[in-house]
Amino acid sequence: HRTYVIDAIPGDGIGPEVVEPTIACVDRVASLHGFSIDWRARDWGSDRYRRTGAMMPVDGLDALADGDGILLGAVGDPDIDDVTTLWGLLIPIRRTFDQYVNVRPTTVLPGVQPAVADAVGMDLVIVRENVEGEYSEAGGRLHRGTEHELVIQEAVFTRRNTARVARYAASLADRRGAALVSATKSNGIIHSMPFWDEVVRDVVREEHPGLVLESVLIDALAARLVLKPRSASVIVASNLFGDILSDLAAAVAGSIGIAPSANLDPERRHPSLFEPVHGTAPDIVGRDLANPIGCLWAASLMLEHLGEHAAAASLHGAFSDVLAAGTRTRDLGGDASTTTFSRAVLDAIDVQSAAPALS
Ligand code: NAD
Ligand code: IPM
Ligand code: MN
Repeated sequence: HRTYVIDAIPGDGIGPEVVEPTIACVDRVASLHGFSIDWRARDWGSDRYRRTGAMMPVDGLDALADGDGILLGAVGDPDIDDVTTLWGLLIPIRRTFDQYVNVRPTTVLPGVQPAVADAVGMDLVIVRENVEGEYSEAGGRLHRGTEHELVIQEAVFTRRNTARVARYAASLADRRGAALVSATKSNGIIHSMPFWDEVVRDVVREEHPGLVLESVLIDALAARLVLKPRSASVIVASNLFGDILSDLAAAVAGSIGIAPSANLDPERRHPSLFEPVHGTAPDIVGRDLANPIGCLWAASLMLEHLGEHAAAASLHGAFSDVLAAGTRTRDLGGDASTTTFSRAVLDAIDVQSAAPALS
């Protein structure tokens, strides 16, 4: 009997509302596939910050290090600045565990009306650089309180890190038999981007000589994803560009509430982190309105990463079947609550395992 140790960090806002049903669904699917999860519940986040002055304990990162994975809801609180909440929890996890690729798939799920009719059939994976780039610690605020006050933030792109993200994306594109689209801004303004282009091009030339590489300016790429969402299969993007494109792609496909995110250490030296793409949604918190699919799908990616492929497919199949049957949360135009939708997914998991050939 296989057991995996997973740290669950529900976090803030709607985080707990989506993590709790996800844990129930993962437990159900696990029991039907002959393994179990030893969940370590971590009450880290903004409430803890209000109580103790820190988002997580001082030895929090050490505590995660020996686990098999991390499931996070979201962090961010309207009353605490995002620098405190994000640099106090999410960003240190990504960096300490060298989760240098952030994989963000988008498809139009069954029964979902996409924002753009042409999106039906889109099957996109955004491979986002996840530990450096525009999200850097370099810089600061100068001449505070004077009329010369300014802030500087330096984008940091290293050859080693750019190359390894490009390598991950290029081999994914190769496996999918598709071109690799690289999001760039190298038309003479952003100094880091010609370097990004050079490193991506070198990796493709040297390691995937048959692969078609399209470098597309980020502004035009954003428009292209709206107008022709099926025209890209794998996009490799910097930290900030990938962040923006992933909300955009999810909205095109129907809702940002569906999009999952796998923060991976592909070499598996450290635990990887799985979370929805969306944030804490303060505007709908506490009303049983959150779409749990982003978190459920993230958990399915986690099961995939653990090697539990059948269970991953069953979980994905279960929420897809519920959507196909017409049960949808409000962001997708339906009227199901988080609770109703999640119960339906639990039932669909049972149906799936009773009749796997039908799924
Ligand atoms: P958000 O993603 O929380 O919300 C944007 C909009 O999408 C809101 O209208 C919200 O109601 C809706 N939405 C989001 N998730 C939904 C779901 N599952 N079901 C239905 N509707 C959903 O983005 P924001 O409002 O810009 O950010 C709120 C806070 O979350 C900020 O503090 C931000 O920093 C933080 N944040 C955290 C993460 C993370 O922890 N990974 C990610 C993004 C934003
Ligand atoms: C995401 C989020 C985070 C990011 C924020 C909350 C720091 O928007 O995971 O997409 O930009 O990486
Ligand atoms: Mn984001």
